[in-house]
Amino acid sequence: MAYDPVVSEPAAKRGTQRTAMIVDCDTGIDDSLALLYAVASPDCDLVAVTCTAGNVDARQVAENTRAVLELAGRSDVEVAIGRETPLARKLITTPETHGPRGIGYAELPAARMPLSSRFGPDLIVEEARRRPGELTLVTLAPLTNVALAVLREPELPRLLRRVVIMGGSYRSAGNTAPTTEWNVNVDPEAARIVFEAFGDEGSNRGPDRPSALPTALGLDVTERARFLPEHLARLAALAGCAPDGSMGGGPSGSSGGRSKGGGAAAGSAINAIVRYLADALRFYMEFHSRYDGFYGAFIHDPLALATALDPTLVRTEAVTVDVELAGRLTTGETVADWRRVWGRPPNVDVAVEAEIDRFFDRFVERVGALAAGRT
Ligand code: RIB
Ligand code: CA
Repeated sequence: MAYDPVVSEPAAKRGTQRTAMIVDCDTGIDDSLALLYAVASPDCDLVAVTCTAGNVDARQVAENTRAVLELAGRSDVEVAIGRETPLARKLITTPETHGPRGIGYAELPAARMPLSSRFGPDLIVEEARRRPGELTLVTLAPLTNVALAVLREPELPRLLRRVVIMGGSYRSAGNTAPTTEWNVNVDPEAARIVFEAFGDEGSNRGPDRPSALPTALGLDVTERARFLPEHLARLAALAGCAPDGSMGGGPSGSSGGRSKGGGAAAGSAINAIVRYLADALRFYMEFHSRYDGFYGAFIHDPLALATALDPTLVRTEAVTVDVELAGRLTTGETVADWRRVWGRPPNVDVAVEAEIDRFFDRFVERVGALAAGRT
């Protein structure tokens, strides 16, 4: 796969507009890769991160989020915890996918940066009010916090510049039940509130934002983002280390002294970010090998965050979407009215195509450079 750094780097390095962003997450392995990408992106101004339950419980999400931001050198970013359970259902988590603590086999020092005293949904509302029309909200988790935020502030769709959602499946099979995607499945009531509130006719369109419907990246495009061992190898090469993070002739992939799950040998000089990626992704790749038939990982969340920074990475189609809440087999399904039989105005711009190679080139280049700078 040809790698052309010129292709993958937008004008951001030439000092163009940075995207001021709040990320809502359930860190989780791919959430953590999205956070690393945000920190590594010169065109991203990471304002704050809010946490909710999903892959693991909300307290663990908040711990993981702060630990990953500290790993990336960004302990200055405000991290707030939000609602710890779905709006109307019992919480389900997925330790089999992301590991019991949500970061696979990786082990990170306990977070030192304090948790914000603000409640996640309040942070979203307060920052949007403080900076009307400036902030992009990127959601990588069940939509519990975002639903509470828009219930507290119905003007939120007009106060935010843009919303990018990783969630749903609009023309493809589900990953949690036959027709449901994880983030929506965990809290379908929240998803329905968000799709309804942010997509109301005129609710978030304005003179300078003629079609600012929420952008939704569902499994239709995110399951094309298959992170493979070769991507880690390219990233590690840019960081100047082996794919397991070992450096300077250290035991690369050697046996003995490896961290839990077979990581880099203890005691060898390591690149901490690459070591984290190797240990977190090894767990995630083993999961995908068992359930999806390939040794790699769908990195749903980084693709969504990259799209928030560069909308040209995807092609979207406006469609009316509603969420099933009472299906015997389909609760949590994002139902997309592609043939417009409902006669309701479109409320979501659904991503139907994505430039995956350009995304991976950019991911490898940016996170590789971040890792190189953190040795
Ligand atoms: O279905 C994929 C989504 O669910 C991703 O956000 C992943 O982190 C999990 O939360
Ligand atoms: Ca997630």
